[in-house]
Amino acid sequence: MSTGVPVDVAVAGGGLIGLSVAWRAAQRGLSVTVVDDAPGGGASRAAAGMLAPVSEAGYGEEALLRLCQASLGRYPGFLDDLAVATGTRVALRPAGTLVVGFDDDDARALADLHGFHVELGLEVHRLTGREARRREPSLTPRVRTGVHVAGDLSVDPRELHPVLLAAAEAAGVRVVRSRVAALCTDEGRVTGVALQNGGEVRAGTVVLALGAHSGALPGAPAVPVRPVKGQILRLRGAAGLLDGTVRALVRGRSVYLVPQGDDGLVVGATVEERGFDATVTAGGVHDLLHDAIEVVPGVTELELTETLARWRPGTPDNAPVLGPSGTPGLVLAAGHFRNGVLLTPLTGELVAELLVSGEVPALAAPFDVRRFG
Ligand code: GLY
Repeated sequence: MSTGVPVDVAVAGGGLIGLSVAWRAAQRGLSVTVVDDAPGGGASRAAAGMLAPVSEAGYGEEALLRLCQASLGRYPGFLDDLAVATGTRVALRPAGTLVVGFDDDDARALADLHGFHVELGLEVHRLTGREARRREPSLTPRVRTGVHVAGDLSVDPRELHPVLLAAAEAAGVRVVRSRVAALCTDEGRVTGVALQNGGEVRAGTVVLALGAHSGALPGAPAVPVRPVKGQILRLRGAAGLLDGTVRALVRGRSVYLVPQGDDGLVVGATVEERGFDATVTAGGVHDLLHDAIEVVPGVTELELTETLARWRPGTPDNAPVLGPSGTPGLVLAAGHFRNGVLLTPLTGELVAELLVSGEVPALAAPFDVRRFG
């Protein structure tokens, strides 16, 4: 059974990435249906919302860094457009990101990182421990060194997702609340999305935006996306504790603290290769709380309101797969790994452009899935 006439585009996945693609495609005149049993219930729900091209940048990931910077540059306009479409303004937190270290090893690691940033022409500032504490007085006095990245911001994904959903629906996007069971194919071409209840959404093109689930969908070609588990905590009572995001290495483990709203704080995140395991473990919560309290002792006073585990969509080179899949009728918008919230505006724009024009935009070309052979 199919659900009505074919649409131009069916988007499998109603997280931030899928909705951004759907919204921008609908704005460009395409008929669009999104399929998701729980839109925004995956990585978009867990994400801390760091918009941090520089402090997330890894060695050898310059192409990804440039993509992330381009998307960060789109954020103000993206939020303006959403405000016009919905009457709701989602705020960017303007305070920047502070990366701090405690001992000689950290100081060396931060000096190397700073050198790498300078080599790439990025705007970063080295700080002494005292200067770091002047920026964020709740940091432990044990902080010896820091790097401030003024341009690395944050947004609250839980505020963003419903606004993006409202904008998409206002632009004519239909949302089918069903689990995506498979892709439908006919003679090698993807023709639609099979729903778990037995229905089908037929479409001229399907966009695969299922996050970590994009790698194992029946009917889809092999897409090199795997789940990378992250456990994350939410706390309350943090009004005035931090101005912006703080990141640190604590005994080799990375931790970040992202203030949200008036008194929220998100502490993340573990990085675990455990398939689709959603268990929140005592060890995971312990490590995150321990490390957060090492960096900002005042965390000990906060109320722990939520623990959650979800999966980042990881790829072999940590960069997304954007554009043609190699299978007719199927376009990819997946594999955003640690940068899904950040890459939301640009992914929507680039994939919508591809859907409308049939041409792969230059910014998307380096992220063609065929780079993996
Ligand atoms: N972007 C932060 C994380 O993936 O944990």
